[in-house]
Amino acid sequence: MEQSKNSGFNSKLGVILAAAGSAIGLGNIWKFPYEAGQNGGGAFLLVYLLCVILFGMPLLMTEILIGRKAGQSTFSAFRAISGNNRWQWLGWWSALTVLILTGFYFVVTGWCVNYLYEAVVNSYAGMGTDELLTHFTANMSNAPKMILCAIIPVLCTAAILWFGVSSGIERLSKILMPLLLIMMSLMVVRVLLLDGSGEGLRFFFYPDFSHITPSVFMEAAGQCFFSLSVGLGLMITYGAYMPKEQDVTKTSFQVILLDTLVAVLAGVIIFPAVFAFGFDPAEGPQLVFVVLPAVLQHMSFAWLSGVAFFTLLFIAALTSTISLMEVIIASIMEMSRGKLNRHYSVLIATGVICIFVAIYVLSMTGVWSGLQICGHNLFDLSDTLVTNYMMPFSALAMSLFIGWFMPFQDNDLVPHSQKRYKQWLRPAFVFSLRWIVPIAILLIFLNGLGVF
Ligand code: ALA
Repeated sequence: MEQSKNSGFNSKLGVILAAAGSAIGLGNIWKFPYEAGQNGGGAFLLVYLLCVILFGMPLLMTEILIGRKAGQSTFSAFRAISGNNRWQWLGWWSALTVLILTGFYFVVTGWCVNYLYEAVVNSYAGMGTDELLTHFTANMSNAPKMILCAIIPVLCTAAILWFGVSSGIERLSKILMPLLLIMMSLMVVRVLLLDGSGEGLRFFFYPDFSHITPSVFMEAAGQCFFSLSVGLGLMITYGAYMPKEQDVTKTSFQVILLDTLVAVLAGVIIFPAVFAFGFDPAEGPQLVFVVLPAVLQHMSFAWLSGVAFFTLLFIAALTSTISLMEVIIASIMEMSRGKLNRHYSVLIATGVICIFVAIYVLSMTGVWSGLQICGHNLFDLSDTLVTNYMMPFSALAMSLFIGWFMPFQDNDLVPHSQKRYKQWLRPAFVFSLRWIVPIAILLIFLNGLGVF
């Protein structure tokens, strides 16, 4: 892989923060709260945490392990490890999954760009609950504006990848993560001072067991895959960059901890505000984009807080889009068998993603809004298809690949210097990949197909 030669990370902390930067994004701050809001709050949080432990941790370790062993991009890692073409379809599958997801992800990043602009010109200042809701709908129905807003992050991501600056990602993540956490903590303090915030905390932390249904399991598992980027092969790329002496288990655990912390913080900001301002927690994808402007208006230094928050959210999304688009670019280079260099591949990926973005936006608000497949427009369909089916399917295949077919060595998991983990770690990891992860994913699939 061309980029792996010159993109090795400079420090262990750098790898953790860059991988966390890739994992943490709209999945944590936008998707997690609205999924929790639609699926029973505390009940969803409980099932989500269970999914993180059951699948998230072993699958994140699996992807990092595959990347480090192969030292290759997602597209060719399976062939490199197995030594034959039998598993190559998984490379194609991952590339296709990432492609469908990336266009969708850029559309939502475009919403952040729009709200960043609105924060700068102060256009949502003074709006109440109903106005914020109609304002969001008005924004979304302006298709040319939404396409333009989504193309801005596509071009930013392409520019970063054109110059092959993964060291830039590392530096950006080191600054971004602490800043994002500080900004979110300040927002937590502000929302907890709002009248009625206790009800929101109860909604988010108190699990009502009657809400725990098979479909909540499916949504929570999908959210876990989306948020940790497992089943996309993103972490395979980071594994390929990871130094051999880095501990896979510890790194995965730290990435998961940071990712979950940001998701929970987002919930602690959103739900107290939802109840204090009289929004509906089951508002859906617009939830965060109507609630956050309401919160930000009530912060001290409201204008500065709004601009700072949406800038950080935009950068958090960008660190995810960079790793998503990197998978597409590396796949194009591999598919062309070296005939297309990095720059041509960046141009092709950018063009294809812009087409996806236009299709998704027009399917929501424009000429194709009447086109429904299985009751979804193309934008919603891509989310459901990728999150609930394609990512879990590749996660299932990856767990079988490592669990049954490609045995790994103890020191693939833990460096020689830290043998104390070895006794229990390897059998637990293998058991989880052979049995727990595949059976749990199969049950979720069967539920999705209406078997239960
Ligand atoms: N894992 C990335 C996110 O949560 C895709 O935004």
